Amino acid sequence: MGTEFDIRNFLKERKRLVDDAIKKYFSDANPFFEVMYYSTEGGKRIRPILAITSYEANRGTDFEHILPIACGLELIHTYSLIHDDLPSMDNDDFRRGKASAHKRFGEARAILSGDGLFAYAFELFTYAKGADEDKIAVIKAVSEAIGPKGVVYGQTLDIKEYNRPDPRILRSIHLNKTAKFIAVSIQVGAIMARASSRIINELYKAGLLMGMLFQYTDDILDVIGEKECLGKTPGKDKDAGKLTAPSVYGLDGARFRARRYAEMAKSRFTSFGKEFEIFNHITDFILKRTY
Ligand code: IPE
Ligand code: IPE
Ligand code: MG
Ligand code: MG
Ligand code: MG
Repeated sequence: MGTEFDIRNFLKERKRLVDDAIKKYFSDANPFFEVMYYSTEGGKRIRPILAITSYEANRGTDFEHILPIACGLELIHTYSLIHDDLPSMDNDDFRRGKASAHKRFGEARAILSGDGLFAYAFELFTYAKGADEDKIAVIKAVSEAIGPKGVVYGQTLDIKEYNRPDPRILRSIHLNKTAKFIAVSIQVGAIMARASSRIINELYKAGLLMGMLFQYTDDILDVIGEKECLGKTPGKDKDAGKLTAPSVYGLDGARFRARRYAEMAKSRFTSFGKEFEIFNHITDFILKRTY
């Protein structure tokens, strides 16, 4: 894989694979599926792409072992966005380039569609081929990353008011609301490819660095991003007085630290060998992303 590797094309092709699989899971006649599917459309699919890419880098060969799990991760992520946008949380009307779920369907159905996506994700996990013990390991790792020790905890810290820009609290917000979920997405690919427990653990650590980077660039884009390109409304963090990378470190400081997270992540991925080089390209994409 040389320097000319076309990461955008790689992500586009992988996104198509995930989009097609998700669509299939929503072809049921259940009328509420339309409400859930509405919010599912339009994301970058970074988490499922990380899961699939890790599965392949760990020499997994049958996508049926990972694709249903990858799609489940995207449904969980989508649920978290629907709830994140609610008036009682970030109060965002615009998501993934269109009206957010509560704007389109009202608050009650938006909340329920999040609940539905959350549960449906775990149903999808059971559709994956492979050993039950691996699937239980996936369910354990994902539950830890998204529940009260992960995303839900991070979101709880995120909505609190802080009277000073505390870097330690910022780190905890980023780690819990975003980094653990990114890390576990990489980890599940390794679990389903039956990698060694050392690799599974080490990849999680590398994933945390990528996840920290991911939230840094999200916070930076809230300051410098364009609405059209982002598909969500910029400037909301400042208006809401959120603790973010730019509010704690300034824009240049946040950019500097983002680059450092990218370097640290890449040096770890490099240590896993040639098959993992793709993760360095993904890391660079996250560092430079505009959406
Ligand atoms: C946005 O996630 C929320 C964060 C955790 C930063 P993404 O930037 O992955 O959003 P989509 O899935 O592409 O819409
Ligand atoms: C959200 O962080 C993280 C989640 C767990 C959904 P943000 O609130 O910064 O995400 P955006 O900017 O609304 O996508
Ligand atoms: Mg939020
Ligand atoms: Mg938000
Ligand atoms: Mg944000």
